[in-house]
Amino acid sequence: TGYITYDPGFVNTGAASSAITYIDGDQGVLRYRGYPIEQLAQHSTFLEVSYLLIYGELPTKTQLEEFTSKINRHTLLHEDLKRFFDGFPRDAHPMPVLSSAVSALSTFYQDSLDPFDQSNVELSTIRLLAKVPTIAAYAYKKSIGQPFLYPDNSLGLVENFLRMTFGLPAEPYEIDPTMAKALDLLFILHADHEQNCSTSTVRLVGSSEANLFASISAGIMALFGPLHGGANSAVLEMLEGIKADGGDVDKFVERVKNKEKGVRLMGFGHRVYKNYDPRAKIIKQTADEILSKIAGGDELLDIAKRLEERALSDDYFVERKLYPNVDFYTGLIYRAMGFPTKYFTVLFALGRLPGWIAHWREMISDPQTKIGRPRQIYTGEKQRDYKPISER
Ligand code: CMC
Repeated sequence: TGYITYDPGFVNTGAASSAITYIDGDQGVLRYRGYPIEQLAQHSTFLEVSYLLIYGELPTKTQLEEFTSKINRHTLLHEDLKRFFDGFPRDAHPMPVLSSAVSALSTFYQDSLDPFDQSNVELSTIRLLAKVPTIAAYAYKKSIGQPFLYPDNSLGLVENFLRMTFGLPAEPYEIDPTMAKALDLLFILHADHEQNCSTSTVRLVGSSEANLFASISAGIMALFGPLHGGANSAVLEMLEGIKADGGDVDKFVERVKNKEKGVRLMGFGHRVYKNYDPRAKIIKQTADEILSKIAGGDELLDIAKRLEERALSDDYFVERKLYPNVDFYTGLIYRAMGFPTKYFTVLFALGRLPGWIAHWREMISDPQTKIGRPRQIYTGEKQRDYKPISER
């Protein structure tokens, strides 16, 4: 036993060594495998970034082709897994639906569960990357009562996902290249963020040698919370609320500063960034362009910009080093693309999936990994004697 470091929220505890993602929170720097996020956002694609995160290097042309065709071959869901969706209520939140279906993959693919068999891990990796977009699209289709579409493997990953989400069997679906490119970019920006809450969850669950599907399913549920991935939905609800209240950002900021219960400036603040989140910078740059192309402008974007400007010049936010994070502008883009607010966090999960997989694989192959098992400071009763119920 001996001396225990008390660190609630693991603010100062390094629980893993990792070669995947580098963040300098004071400078606002983010790099995947050494490559600056700005360069990847400008030149790369989500599949290429997924490969980079998982295997450590940018793929050659042949490697990328092989990776892509392997993923394309696994996009179908087992017909029995499709029936799984019938069990949920129509208005179910898509995050628990996604998590449950990913958890269920470990019942359908019992041939690839051994965490120490390299070919098993490889097959599970491909199955996840291929099937999670299909599951995500079906969770959406279920919520609006439309039929599920089979994947079209002649399409790219993002295009296929958009078609399965918004397409109908009775008519051809025309993919909007601006929308597909924007979604691909957002997925790149979400692809990894070192030891965040959901990734730490994936590592912790995996440290018990639970299989990859089970670990990712747990990570999805960690992402669900409004302080983590759920913030993108919460930002939009906040902006709608301000709009409904007459668009007065000053009034809202006062409520935040007065620490009214449950009122935070959603999409602001970060455990690691004490500077502008570099992802938010890129998203803000593209939000204007994308929103004008897709939806012809947006009143909520105007409120968001005024809110940001107001907060960044206010002592409360300056003193606490609170800047916009990745979630501040994404919801507006997702909304313009036609996704309902409830669905935004699923898009975050699709983007974060390769990061979770990369961390799980790094964790499982690291000889220093031990089962995750934090200690505690016990504050309860010292010792008491049992009393029969008649004497209590
Ligand atoms: N609005 C108002 N005050 C805030 C906010 C905010 N968004 N964030 C932090 N603060 C205040 C907080 O009240 C505290 O003030 P005080 O010192 O007076 O008690 C101070 O700033 C430090 O905050 P903290 O809660 O100790 O910081 P943390 O590192 O534990 O929390 C956070 C980080 C992201 C959970 C938090 O900033 C937050 O709740 N933000 C809003 C939710 C959000 O946008 N989440 C998305 C994060 S980025 C993407 C992701 O990870 O999913």
